[in-house]
Amino acid sequence: MTDIAQIALAGLLAPRKTLPPSLFYDEEGCRLFYRITELPEYYLTRTERVLLADIGPTVAAEAGPNAVLVEYGASHEEKAGYLLATPGAFRSYIPIDVAAGELERLRTRMATSHPGLDVRPVAADFMQPITLSLPTGAPVLGFFPGSTIGNMEPEAARDFLIRAAASLGKGARFLLGADLRKAPAELIPAYDDAQGVTAAFNCNLLVRLNREAGADFDLAAFRHEAVWNDPESRIEMHLVSLRRQEVRLHGAMIRFQEGETIHTENSYKHTPERLLGIARAAGWSPRRQWTDPAGRFGHFLLERDD
Ligand code: AVJ
Repeated sequence: MTDIAQIALAGLLAPRKTLPPSLFYDEEGCRLFYRITELPEYYLTRTERVLLADIGPTVAAEAGPNAVLVEYGASHEEKAGYLLATPGAFRSYIPIDVAAGELERLRTRMATSHPGLDVRPVAADFMQPITLSLPTGAPVLGFFPGSTIGNMEPEAARDFLIRAAASLGKGARFLLGADLRKAPAELIPAYDDAQGVTAAFNCNLLVRLNREAGADFDLAAFRHEAVWNDPESRIEMHLVSLRRQEVRLHGAMIRFQEGETIHTENSYKHTPERLLGIARAAGWSPRRQWTDPAGRFGHFLLERDD
């Protein structure tokens, strides 16, 4: 059985059906996510970019001189570029990502764009423990932009930050970027856009399972749904079964009631206080924080408790 079939079955045979958001990002999923980042309703990427351009020099000064920048989930160097633009602040850049091919392309681009920078990609899953070989004595800045931390349940986010503290070492700092809690009227359209790009992104999971996991989902029998879960403070994406139906996946039979959903993603929208509470529980103390003027998106500079 393929890994994908195994992962999918584990989620679809459970009493409450789920699929992990990591499955979104096949080639078509990456293309659709890129289109999402350009949608008028999806303010996150645009807002974070402006914020990073603004705070980049300050963060670089806090990190350097000659620091090592370690980015989690770094298939592209665009965001790190706002920090690396400050001369002398960083000597080396370690992008960590599961996509080895993307990392190789990144390395090639950066050899031209950042000639004096030591770029050492690490192909790894940041949800697992990672051992980095860091130069002794150099200041280290971890970097986790994009609100990817919002995909994790609070306990998983804490565990991620505990692992990051362990791999980055004593004295490390960490810049964490996260979308913040706000009115559902602004959040819902960002996850259910007028052009239906997010719907296509969500439904692409089923296309992928049909192609790669021997499934026979009828795409016309499911629809995209984005809901705000207020007590959990998160946007949830679901695929809703439009009728009672049975789907085969790698020989297994999956039964759906009409209206039953597959929960495909959580996107937590914490308040700064809650996010910093999670960071504190993981051994990080807040040092500085910034948001855009409207308070939509935040960047949090943390330092390791030693
Ligand atoms: C890449 C996890 C930050 O949660 O906003 C975008 C993914 N899902 N639209 C997010 C996503 C639906 C995105 N993250």
